[in-house]
Amino acid sequence: MSAILPPSERLWWKTPISGQEWAWIGIAFVWAMVMFVMMVYWHINGKQNLSNEVYKTTTEMFQAKTDAFVKENTIRTEDSLANPDLKMPVVKPNDKGEAFLLGRLWSWYPILELEAGKTYKIHLSSVDYNHGFSLQPTNINIQVIPGYEHVVKMTPTKAGTYAIVCNEYCGIGHHTMLGRIYVK
Ligand code: CUA
Repeated sequence: MSAILPPSERLWWKTPISGQEWAWIGIAFVWAMVMFVMMVYWHINGKQNLSNEVYKTTTEMFQAKTDAFVKENTIRTEDSLANPDLKMPVVKPNDKGEAFLLGRLWSWYPILELEAGKTYKIHLSSVDYNHGFSLQPTNINIQVIPGYEHVVKMTPTKAGTYAIVCNEYCGIGHHTMLGRIYVK
């Protein structure tokens, strides 16, 4: 019998499962269960899988909320990373710690300035296509999807300049889609 010819025994699926096969099915099942439990375990005890909240929104609504946040809390402007001719506002969230960060072709808007040790709620969304929020050099990775508002709780612990890169391919300018977060 070969893989090309039809099986000699037409009702091959009625052949009883051999002991060895049962053993492998058992091993695979146990391993799947171990990995399932590990997902929950790492969520609680590891540093993976942020406990995000996600809400439905619209691109217009999110744009408006971000604009209001920028208007209220801008402390200065800097040259944009993608286009030095453009100015990018640097925004410091107020005492409530609510911050808005918007992804679009091809930049992260605005630049955030945070304080080490304070807890923030970063609202993340896109106003055009799917983008990926990757915070360097930390291991934080979030899908940024238009129509959905992710609320990420963050407590920066170390001062420095953090880079945001887009890690979801979003067109010809994908590699220029950079952003910044300052922690003071
Ligand atoms: Cu945005 Cu890639």
